[in-house]
Amino acid sequence: MGASPLFYDEPLHLVRGEGVYLYASDGRRYLDCYNNIPAVGHCNAQVVQAIARQASTLNVHSRYVSDNVVEYAERLLGTFGAELDQMIFTCTGSEANDQALRMARMLGRGKGMICTDYTYHGNTEAVSQVSPLFHRARQYFTEVRTIPFPDSYRPLDGLSGDALADAYVAKVQGAIDSFEQAGIGLAGMILCSIFANEGLPTVPPGFLEKATNLIRKAGGLVIADEVQAGFGRTGKMWGHDLMGFAPDIVTLGKPMGNGYPVAALVSRAELLDAFRDKVFYFNTFAGAPVAAAAAGAVLDVIEQQHLLDNARRVGDYIRDGFKRLATRHPLMGDIRGVGLWVGVELVRDRGSKTPATADTAQLVNLLKESGVLISRIGPYDNVLKIRPPLIFSREHADELLDAVDSCIERL
Ligand SMILES: Cc1ncc(COP(=O)(O)O)c(C=O)c1O
Repeated sequence: MGASPLFYDEPLHLVRGEGVYLYASDGRRYLDCYNNIPAVGHCNAQVVQAIARQASTLNVHSRYVSDNVVEYAERLLGTFGAELDQMIFTCTGSEANDQALRMARMLGRGKGMICTDYTYHGNTEAVSQVSPLFHRARQYFTEVRTIPFPDSYRPLDGLSGDALADAYVAKVQGAIDSFEQAGIGLAGMILCSIFANEGLPTVPPGFLEKATNLIRKAGGLVIADEVQAGFGRTGKMWGHDLMGFAPDIVTLGKPMGNGYPVAALVSRAELLDAFRDKVFYFNTFAGAPVAAAAAGAVLDVIEQQHLLDNARRVGDYIRDGFKRLATRHPLMGDIRGVGLWVGVELVRDRGSKTPATADTAQLVNLLKESGVLISRIGPYDNVLKIRPPLIFSREHADELLDAVDSCIERL
């Protein structure tokens, strides 16, 4: 148990899930406002049946031709802009990012990768180097440079507007220059399209477009990590479309199979062909028929239940609800987010923006006691992290808002 990082002061022992609810071993029901993997609902019947049907028909590794794998790949690629027209399957988001780093380092101008200073992209040797969020101590890696993540609430040097975006872009230029001076050269930049692990900051307008153009001009590749942002979380299928930048590589995972381990990397044929010229990429379980069946059923449900639209509408409804609560609770310093991803930054004082870290931890635990599951994130661990399954309704949102309202009173 000691090695498993479990949530909450008193860990939860869950035995069943259904829709947006989770059930504990004592029979207690919890509203799940946290889990983004069961995007189309816990134990969704369509996904479960698709997995069972395929597992009882053909369940082999990925070295044969399977119609459902090819059909899924074509369908998935159809959701991207025309440029992004090829993909490879992986089993996890970490693997997808690992291959993305390999591609950038093989096809970019050098080996240097840029990431933000408070991010997580996965757990392999290479990917953990661009994941400072989970470093126990500040670590330095020769081929990695971190830049401050773009944030309008706690802005760099107190700037705003274009000046703020340009100040963050200058940090990107600084990292590129530093790689050149060290003789390392630039491979590219990896970033989560919505900076989910950074605490979902409001990105200064213009930053992403300018920063990604700069990377490309310097001969690097832009990797959009859509492991959290993808598959409709933002109200658009892909976060980079919402955020207005064009990546060379996109990585996917988490909600792709609604809990079945399937992930992917999407890029341009020209880049993937050049990569394959240099390496033989093979992955036993990735892109096998059962994975494709699960992933295909997820796309079916997203389309049939209009979940992108739902993410936009219910997400806005939750943010509006929090803004109303903020008029009574000064603890709520900033309310932000996109689609069904809501961040609420808690502060001791709105003027000084002193992080209310202890209150945030207590609130998350009180909410659990009252039957609502959320978490917290951000460099000060003071941002309420709310990203429920995409089938979340206004009624569920009201349940969440009422619980937050009464738990804050108890702090
Ligand atoms: C943005 C992001 N990328 C990648 C990963 C790694 O994905 P996985 O745990 O499937 O390897 C995570 C996991 O939390 C993530 O949040």
